[in-house]
Amino acid sequence: MNQHSPQYNKQFWNERYDSEEYLYGEKPNGFLVESLEFLKGKKKILCLSEGEGRNSVFLASHGFEVTAVDLSSVARDKALALAKKNGVSIDYQVTDLSDFDFGKERWDAIVSIFGHLPSELRKKIHQSIRTGLKKEGVFLLEGYTPEQLDLGTGGPKNLDMLYVKEDLESDFSGFSILVSEVLNRDIHEGSGHTGESSVIQFIVKKP
Ligand SMILES: C[S@@+](CC[C@H](N)C(=O)[O-])C[C@H]1O[C@@H](n2cnc3c(N)ncnc32)[C@H](O)[C@@H]1O
Repeated sequence: MNQHSPQYNKQFWNERYDSEEYLYGEKPNGFLVESLEFLKGKKKILCLSEGEGRNSVFLASHGFEVTAVDLSSVARDKALALAKKNGVSIDYQVTDLSDFDFGKERWDAIVSIFGHLPSELRKKIHQSIRTGLKKEGVFLLEGYTPEQLDLGTGGPKNLDMLYVKEDLESDFSGFSILVSEVLNRDIHEGSGHTGESSVIQFIVKKP
């Protein structure tokens, strides 16, 4: 069943990605790069809402076995081209997250970088992440907060799709919180993310 936002649906993303340029750049997200230590010793990583592949290619080039999921086939083609250019391989599945089977205790880590979903679907996906992670598995996220609506430097213009720290912490109750911080930071990632931004950086570990 599709529960994605009618505003930010498959057609929206396919059109947005339909150019030579990598909308969010070819370089990995800065928070992911600086958090690599939290993924030490992990093997199988799932990247949610992966887009054009910059983060999964980065992880694959650090030796991780990466599966990426996104609803855009245009993004998949660009991600596979980026992987080839970097001499790595990734498994990229074009699927709506509402249809994706996370399995049970299957992933060492799950990564979501600016993966914004309507709250109803987001809650369901957080449950699937809880189940899909192995024991001691790590969930790492960076996303925009409601304050981002006033800054206008990226992200959905829809309050329901933005991350509130308390809600995230409650969705992962029982997990160890390794990082949970709301901050303003200057982000320059392609032409899609440009300037001062309000984000939450969040890393938790399954008991
Ligand atoms: C802001 S982009 C982030 C892309 C990538 N994580 C990055 O940081 O470069 C959001 C991505 O979420 C994907 N997306 C949105 N809703 C989705 C859904 N219901 N299932 C799977 N992917 C979805 C879009 O196709 C898009 O690639």
